[in-house]
Amino acid sequence: MNVFDAMMQRRSYRGAFQDRAVDVNDLDKLIEAARWAPSPFNVQPWELVIIQEAEGKAALADVTEHAVVEQFKDAKFLDDNSRWMRLTEADLKEVRDGVLLTDHVTLPKLLQDAPEQLLQGLLKNAKSFTLLGQLGAGKIPAKEIAAQVREAPLLMLITMNCKRYPPGEGGTRWMWLSMGMLIQNVLLAATALGIGVQFVSPPLERAADREQVRQLFNIPTSHEVITLLRIGYVEEDSGSSVRLQPSEFVHFEKMM
Ligand SMILES: Cc1cc2nc3c(=O)[nH]c(=O)nc-3n(C[C@H](O)[C@H](O)[C@H](O)COP(=O)(O)O)c2cc1C
Repeated sequence: MNVFDAMMQRRSYRGAFQDRAVDVNDLDKLIEAARWAPSPFNVQPWELVIIQEAEGKAALADVTEHAVVEQFKDAKFLDDNSRWMRLTEADLKEVRDGVLLTDHVTLPKLLQDAPEQLLQGLLKNAKSFTLLGQLGAGKIPAKEIAAQVREAPLLMLITMNCKRYPPGEGGTRWMWLSMGMLIQNVLLAATALGIGVQFVSPPLERAADREQVRQLFNIPTSHEVITLLRIGYVEEDSGSSVRLQPSEFVHFEKMM
């Protein structure tokens, strides 16, 4: 697949995966794509943990479930989320940023057929959901996301070895950039192989959860856990996405 096609066809895959393991040759290709990412001074600060056994998946699913329940109690988190949640495809297409609420949570039956205005009002007051969060409203989405983690054919924990820092004041900044490049290489290679990838951020949002993940997988304290990817062969349509127009983010010569 040509690289431009891979960039255009790559989507965050939130659906079910085919019920089969990731082929060892395909996994090698994902690793090879990661390996050839650029980094400052070629420090190659990354280390990956590939998880294919049920035990590791279950441990990550448990951290994820707990994290989501806690997030539903966190007013700031809910508020920040609501800023980027779009209620309908039409909304998403109009503003060209953010994500579709229903791609991330299954709404309770009561709200599924609620008028859009009511849902908009609820989103605007998302922090009032903390009360529901305290009463356990996060448990259903938490279980759903955790199940996705538990049932994924393969999970990839991407870590950064902070000891492999480049020279200069900007060191850590450049290391983080190279981690992003590694991840994009993996995503593009996966697209070319018919493999779907989803970022699973909840278990790594909070420092305490990151620490737990670090301990569960024997990741040394010198390493930062950067992200968790859920990986497998796609079974369903990956859905569509939106982007701002070039005129909304590209400037020639100077901004403004
Ligand atoms: C750092 C990062 C974290 C993300 N975390 C999540 C996540 O936890 N769950 C999820 O479903 N998607 C996650 N995404 C995917 C974004 O929602 C997605 O890239 C964006 O909505 C654009 O859609 P697209 O990737 O299909 O083009 C994450 C993406 C990035 C780059």
